[in-house]
Amino acid sequence: KKIIFSGIQPTGVMTLGNYLGAVKNWVKLQEDYDCIYSVVNMHAITVRQDPKALRENTLRAFALLLACGLDPEKCLMFIQSHVKTHAELSWVLGCHTQFGELSRMTQFKDKSQRNADNINAGLFTYPVLMAADILLYQADMVPVGADQKQHLELSRDIAMRFNNLYGNTFRVPEPYIPENGARIMSLAEPQKKMSKSDDNQNAFIAILDSEDTIIKKFKRAVTDSDMEVAYREGKDGINNLMTIYSAVTGKSYPEIEREFQGKGYGDFKVAVGQAVADHLRPVRENFERFYADKAYLKEVYTAGAERALRLSGRTLEKVYKKVGFLPA
Ligand code: TYM
Repeated sequence: KKIIFSGIQPTGVMTLGNYLGAVKNWVKLQEDYDCIYSVVNMHAITVRQDPKALRENTLRAFALLLACGLDPEKCLMFIQSHVKTHAELSWVLGCHTQFGELSRMTQFKDKSQRNADNINAGLFTYPVLMAADILLYQADMVPVGADQKQHLELSRDIAMRFNNLYGNTFRVPEPYIPENGARIMSLAEPQKKMSKSDDNQNAFIAILDSEDTIIKKFKRAVTDSDMEVAYREGKDGINNLMTIYSAVTGKSYPEIEREFQGKGYGDFKVAVGQAVADHLRPVRENFERFYADKAYLKEVYTAGAERALRLSGRTLEKVYKKVGFLPA
């Protein structure tokens, strides 16, 4: 069976972008593959976090993944900081990654522009830790949104370079980017990616937003000045709404165009809002139940960390041998 690895940062709320770009696929893939999913709290501290909030958000993210349909009987779920091999492999991989390669990462360039007062070394080496996450488990495929593609290419380059230097050690992972939903855009500025760190609350849908809030945000979504629900260049707002509608209903673009022929944008926006609210209803309902059961959450992440340590330990041991570390 193929091995799947992916991760999500526990910073603030999970958005519809995270869900449609990644988590929805994680749920599907657990049926057919050996899936490993992590709440990557070590990545989160590349941006300054309030410790209490980080702890809480980590647990919430974990509960939210369960609410989205991840099933610990079917997949391995753990919290990154519980498994020490990630930091350990990250060091070795960092010594095989060039300054120039990391300097070219567009996410680093964006984030250091927005966070000029805290361009820390962790922010710079972030993609190395991500490579460690993936390569430790010999993952074949990594389901992510389009914004992670460049990081994944770097993971592949690092794996190939290491294999060339020391002999076959890592499987070289492939990205798994959905055809529909890989890049969900902001509802307020549809040229920009939907992001939880947007100051404008109306720009993103949090997957725990109430039905009323979801519909209200879609009603306010920025569109364009013509009147046609059609997927076309230059209609970023409508294209985004069509992508979202298609992802949650399974309808194709031509079907959607037919459905809203002769109707106004107002009707379309309400329909998208309603479809999203309906789609996310089970997630909202399950979340409180999972989040309330701290004992169960702990049981799942403790067992997950144990298994993850065992699996990743094998790869780390090989790596330590290959680079010439004297056995302890
Ligand atoms: P993160 O936490 O920013 O996002 C989690 C996942 O959501 C996807 N995503 C989107 N997809 C579509 N449209 C959007 N607007 C949108 N916004 C976010 C992301 O592509 C991602 O798949 N570096 C990663 C976390 C990570 C990881 C890993 C992923 C750490 N280690 C190993 C895969 C493998 C990140 O920050 O994702």
